[in-house]
Amino acid sequence: MYYYDAVKNQHGLKHDPFKSIVAPRPIGWISSLDDDGKPNLAPYSFFNGVSDNPHIVMFSSQDRKDSAANIEKTGEFVCNLATWDLREQMNISSAMVPPDVNEFELAGLTEAACKVVSVPRVAESPIAMECKYLQTVLPTDIAGADAGVFVVFGQVVGIHIDESYIDDGMLDVPAIRTISRLGYMDYAVVDNLFTMGRPEVKNGKMVS
Ligand SMILES: Cc1cc2nc3c(=O)[nH]c(=O)nc-3n(C[C@H](O)[C@H](O)[C@H](O)COP(=O)(O)O)c2cc1C
Repeated sequence: MYYYDAVKNQHGLKHDPFKSIVAPRPIGWISSLDDDGKPNLAPYSFFNGVSDNPHIVMFSSQDRKDSAANIEKTGEFVCNLATWDLREQMNISSAMVPPDVNEFELAGLTEAACKVVSVPRVAESPIAMECKYLQTVLPTDIAGADAGVFVVFGQVVGIHIDESYIDDGMLDVPAIRTISRLGYMDYAVVDNLFTMGRPEVKNGKMVS
């Protein structure tokens, strides 16, 4: 087995493989509003759901970028789903632009009003989750040094779903073609799946 010290990070490879190992990562395509009510949109792949009751999501900002700063001030954000059809727009919205640039306009996307939060969702995205800000966690490393990372948590208060992707009361995820982030410049698209039930154990023995 190839082994390296991950703290020194002397991996000896062409590129740091960490983000190819923690993969695929869902993409939280985060919309927020700045102080002046101007929309902001950016993708975050250090993103996930951390609880389904209540529905809690998180994303991690390396440095306090505009999304994190906006959300901490306004208390609201939206997680839009990034899909194969929207891959180019998602990528454009990651451009390093000044805070006053509206990435919806930059990427040619439409702002749609939400129900509970004032933040617009991406109209073209088949799914959007309206969120209320909960807290920001600032991790330290094992030496106790500030990691420079801002992990923003929010509770989902409303979910929009394009009804054409609901089949017999279930989401047709391969039809939605959700994209996820791998390492390097790589992405994956969910276009097939397999199903597997949880094991049942009785008297310490597997029964199915
Ligand atoms: C697919 C993708 C995933 C990204 N994930 C993250 C992430 O998890 N954390 C982060 O800090 N930046 C991430 N970025 C970079 C941000 O999107 C980029 O810095 C953006 O300009 C931040 O915008 P904001 O300052 O408006 O929040 C990602 C970029 C792409 C294309």
